[in-house]
Amino acid sequence: MRHLLWPLLLFVHTRHVAAAVRRGGHCFDACDLTLTYLDFNDTDRALSKKSRTCQSALHATSLYLCIDEHCVEDGREEWLDGVNGTCQNAAGISIPPWTIIDTFTPEDRAHVRRLKAEEGMWYSRGPPLNEVVLPDDDFFDRAFKTLEFAFFEIDTHWLYGIAMYYFWAAVITIGICWRLAFLIQEIRHRNFQRIPGDDLELEDVNGRKGAQVTLRAYGLLKRYILVPATFGYRCAQNIGWCTIPPRVQSLTIFAFVILNLILCCISYPVFAGNLYWPLVSTQLWRYVSDRTGVIALANFPLIWLFGTRNNVLMWLTGWGFGTYNSFHRWVARVATVQAVVHSVGYTEMVFERGNWSLFMKYLRKHYFWNGEIATVLMCAICACSVYGLRRCHYEIFLVTHIFLSIIVLLTTFYHVEIFNGEWNIFIWPCLAIWILDRALRLLRILAFNRIIWNTYATATYDSTSNIVRLKVPCEQNLVRPQPGAYYYIYVLNDLLFAHQNHPFTLAYMSSNDGADSTDGIHISRHCRADSTTSSVSSESSSLLRPTSPRSPTLTFLIRPYDGLTSRLRRICTSASRTSVRVLVEGPYGAQQPLHTFPSVLFIAGGTGIAVALSYLPSLLREDGESEVVDVHLVWAVREQALWKQVLQTDIPSMVLRDDRFRVTVHVTKDVDDGGKDADDAIDSSHIADRRYDQEVIGHVEAKGGRPNVSAAVEDAAQEVGRAGRLAVVACGPAQMADEARRACVGVLGAGYTGVEYFEESFKW
Ligand SMILES: NC(=O)c1ccc[n+]([C@@H]2O[C@H](COP(=O)([O-])OP(=O)(O)OC[C@H]3O[C@@H](n4cnc5c(N)ncnc54)[C@H](OP(=O)(O)O)[C@@H]3O)[C@@H](O)[C@H]2O)c1
Ligand SMILES: *[C@@H]1O[C@H](CO)[C@@H](O)[C@H](O)[C@H]1NC(C)=O
Ligand SMILES: *[C@@H]1O[C@H](CO)[C@@H](O)[C@H](O)[C@H]1NC(C)=O
Ligand SMILES: *[C@@H]1O[C@H](CO)[C@@H](O)[C@H](O)[C@H]1NC(C)=O
Repeated sequence: MRHLLWPLLLFVHTRHVAAAVRRGGHCFDACDLTLTYLDFNDTDRALSKKSRTCQSALHATSLYLCIDEHCVEDGREEWLDGVNGTCQNAAGISIPPWTIIDTFTPEDRAHVRRLKAEEGMWYSRGPPLNEVVLPDDDFFDRAFKTLEFAFFEIDTHWLYGIAMYYFWAAVITIGICWRLAFLIQEIRHRNFQRIPGDDLELEDVNGRKGAQVTLRAYGLLKRYILVPATFGYRCAQNIGWCTIPPRVQSLTIFAFVILNLILCCISYPVFAGNLYWPLVSTQLWRYVSDRTGVIALANFPLIWLFGTRNNVLMWLTGWGFGTYNSFHRWVARVATVQAVVHSVGYTEMVFERGNWSLFMKYLRKHYFWNGEIATVLMCAICACSVYGLRRCHYEIFLVTHIFLSIIVLLTTFYHVEIFNGEWNIFIWPCLAIWILDRALRLLRILAFNRIIWNTYATATYDSTSNIVRLKVPCEQNLVRPQPGAYYYIYVLNDLLFAHQNHPFTLAYMSSNDGADSTDGIHISRHCRADSTTSSVSSESSSLLRPTSPRSPTLTFLIRPYDGLTSRLRRICTSASRTSVRVLVEGPYGAQQPLHTFPSVLFIAGGTGIAVALSYLPSLLREDGESEVVDVHLVWAVREQALWKQVLQTDIPSMVLRDDRFRVTVHVTKDVDDGGKDADDAIDSSHIADRRYDQEVIGHVEAKGGRPNVSAAVEDAAQEVGRAGRLAVVACGPAQMADEARRACVGVLGAGYTGVEYFEESFKW
């Protein structure tokens, strides 16, 4: 029992007299340690051991003589003041003054009895001493080394815990530099274009050669590190019960894991004869357990930071939620393994000195059972976060995840409580990050609509396209969404599920100037305007909250699967057009610099079209901000009705008429009412329905069957050539994204170094 408690005292003790201890090199403490095993007979036996030690003149004399013999004078006063202070606080006793050893002549000292370590430690169980004693040199050395290494370990644990922050700071710094380099290059490129032919002569051949080398190196970097999946081809798709992130992320995570492994394995100065833990194996258990415990704890704030939606780093580096989420998972896994080693180590040390009854005795200790619970729950969280559960039962996953994390944080708090709050410095940041994230989420909701319960969206479900179209009025919205922005949407119709929220990419915001091209909106506006004057109204317009016909709206295209999205569909099927009360949290997400590429290829699947829709207007703008000269959208859809609807109502006719834009639609299943063979049913003239002229039809091509993603990427790369720049954006099912990624790696390998891959998908 005492063995386990020592280090606790050690912690408390270090900070108490930290300054003196460092200078005295633990020498004073070593003398003190040799005497803690002894009991002197010159005090009242009724007092506590602590009071007796403080009071005993024999003890003080022995201690002072030992210090005088072994230690430099430097720092002694402070150290004694510390001991005196402890005695004052604990027992109200003042220790005897240093001058009590003045009477000891060198001869006296030579005659003082020297205790061997075995003797000295034996006395802890023997009769009290009646004389002044000193440790012999070996005893003192062992005490000194014991302390020296124990304190060294404490410093090392701390240092290695902090190393985690250095690691991630380095990673983030690289990310920021990378982004800055991209921006600077972008600005230079643009300035260069603004003044054509101006600088050409000034740029010397060397400079261009240098640029070429950089470009080639960058191409290789993309080919082998930045773009590919970690192994082979699967990246967005799961492999059994896990998902493996792209290669850069995997390398980062790998480096982190290796760093943790190394830091948990090195710097253990064990020796035979340690006074605390005589066995070398016990010392190892002890040090390893402490090391893993401290590093696990140091990893906590990182886990919380990487797991939150409002993460400053996301904003600094431009890396998406998915990237930080894989960091979140891996830091958490590493911390869990460390916590397990920590717990196993301490449990093993208990069993080394006792049996089940001793273990049960420990389990009654507050810090002990809290620690065991924290470890068990951390394992539970990891087990509940496997891809399968996350994917299939997202809501259940999220609720248990949050609930268990709260308990883990709480139990960890009580676990480290014994150290007088020393280690809370890793607990409070977690709480702060969490609270800050929640506050920012609330702020975003408020920024969207100050009266948060007062947002009524119009949801329409169309069974032919199997899409819920959600239109959210946003006249109160303060933050203008950027292309690629996504929002978390809560549906408040059923309070039981009100906490459920899913991210959806904003397809577009129809502005209030009436210039938006979508006929559907015009029609519905018309209906609404009519309904106020005439009795003719659409069947459900009474459900609609009267919104100003000119109010801007956000449009989301939602595929109903399960959970929130299927609930939305259920709500809608009661009426063809329904008003739902929603809470909108956003916008999130960074805009990708697609407008800096002359060519952009979208590979979209199903509702992934939302990503393309959100970027199209900004890519095709005329004000010179965009460098795009060619946008190709390859879009696979199951339902005929979906692509027709989207082309008719969601893509502005201005975009459709733009010569820079073309669409290839691939219909993979024909669920159109006609029931005809897919290839027959596909006819570009469909989209001409009343609205579009020949010019538009020229830009739209419809085909049957899945698109050949790699062929699409290769064609696009060949079109821009080896010197050209092309952005490939994948937004659709995981398999499609993986194919696009692989195709990009392929064309990068073929020398098209200007190809850049972007993936827009939500990964948890
Ligand atoms: N990031 C975003 O903003 C965003 C937005 C919406 C949706 N999504 C994601 O997109 C995914 C699908 O959405 P959804 O349900 O609307 O799609 P969906 O209806 O399942 O349609 C997907 C289409 O892509 C085709 N396809 C699938 N894999 C392909 C491949 N390897 N090569 C060529 N074509 C392929 C499918 O063909 P078959 O019929 O032959 O399978 C189908 O036509 C979801 O997982 C969702 O997470 C992302
Ligand atoms: C302790 O000291 C008292 C006298 O103060 C003496 O009578 C007694 O024998 C001593 N005990 C031991 C164990 O030496
Ligand atoms: C111990 O502290 C008390 C009160 O602070 C003081 O009066 C006393 O002189 C101190 N003794 C020594 C030996 O420093
Ligand atoms: C897709 O196109 C590539 C050539 O670009 C070809 O090698 C491959 O076989 C094609 N895949 C399918 C399924 O047709």
